[in-house]
Amino acid sequence: MPKLTRRRLLCATAPLAAAPLGVTLAFGREAEAAGHDHAGHGGTATRSTAAAGHAAMIGDGAPAVGGPNDLDALLHPPPALPHRPGRVREYTLVARDEELEIAPGVFFPAWTYNGTVPGPVIRATEDDVLRVRFANAGAHPHTIHFHGIHPTNMDGVFEIVGPGEDFTYEFPARPAGFHVYHCHSTPLKKHIHKGLYGAFIIDPKVPRAPARELVMVMNGYDTDGDGENNFYTVNGRTFYYARYPIRVRRGELVRVYLANLTEFDLINSFHLHADFFRYQPTGTGEHWEYTDTVMQCQGQRGVLEVRFAHAGTFMFHAHQSEFTELGWMGYFQVEEP
Ligand code: CU
Ligand code: CU
Repeated sequence: MPKLTRRRLLCATAPLAAAPLGVTLAFGREAEAAGHDHAGHGGTATRSTAAAGHAAMIGDGAPAVGGPNDLDALLHPPPALPHRPGRVREYTLVARDEELEIAPGVFFPAWTYNGTVPGPVIRATEDDVLRVRFANAGAHPHTIHFHGIHPTNMDGVFEIVGPGEDFTYEFPARPAGFHVYHCHSTPLKKHIHKGLYGAFIIDPKVPRAPARELVMVMNGYDTDGDGENNFYTVNGRTFYYARYPIRVRRGELVRVYLANLTEFDLINSFHLHADFFRYQPTGTGEHWEYTDTVMQCQGQRGVLEVRFAHAGTFMFHAHQSEFTELGWMGYFQVEEP
């Protein structure tokens, strides 16, 4: 059996190699359907099935797992609260080993915070006291390392939490911005790649303008243990937002908290079709870039803001097209106000 590489997954002529995962066959079927749907492009036999499948991946045609509201808790952050220094914001995170279906028929033996990859969105306002109770119900030692400013004994590096143990992190939330958290046990690349990471919003004293707020954590999964990712997603499942497009309204302010926790690949990226957004790296400072594409290395994150000029269906995806075709693609469904 030839080694199953991600490039082989994309190759229409490698059904044998694709078979162990099952999913590629499903992608292939979508691709065939696309070939029939779009007459006039020439013979389907000579076309790239991956490219044809890409065009067909919307609604029920998208190979995504689950129901329409499954990822709501990861997409929609908790509401921002007004600045009130000293208020305590409490969260409980439990590390659990969970087998997650990340694409149809593809199960990933994940290490999770609270049963999902990524873990829950943690949100505080600057100068809140953040108190995170962490219990390790998994089989390996873990921690939570928060990005931000805090004492080093709250940094999730030196206090390793063994299976069955717990630890409470407590520190004032700062600086304002958009951050991430993740396990910092060694080997680090394994603990991150297995799924122990999430989004961490610290709202500024002067609140951001009201907006429809969304969180997107970009990641990858190495399903065959060769140190290369076989699938890419936002918020944990391949093509989920292609199957269930994110509904927004034309003209309203849409704010996306975008972070990259992809292991193994040097960068990931976000590209929006048919409109431009402004982008604030790390959610800090005065500098906003006006663009339709941003890239992030692992741990980088930023805040995107867009008001769609038109109604309709707007694709977004990694601008590494390989990642796109392995699951990192979705749509905004922009409706008239
Ligand atoms: Cu860990
Ligand atoms: Cu980090």
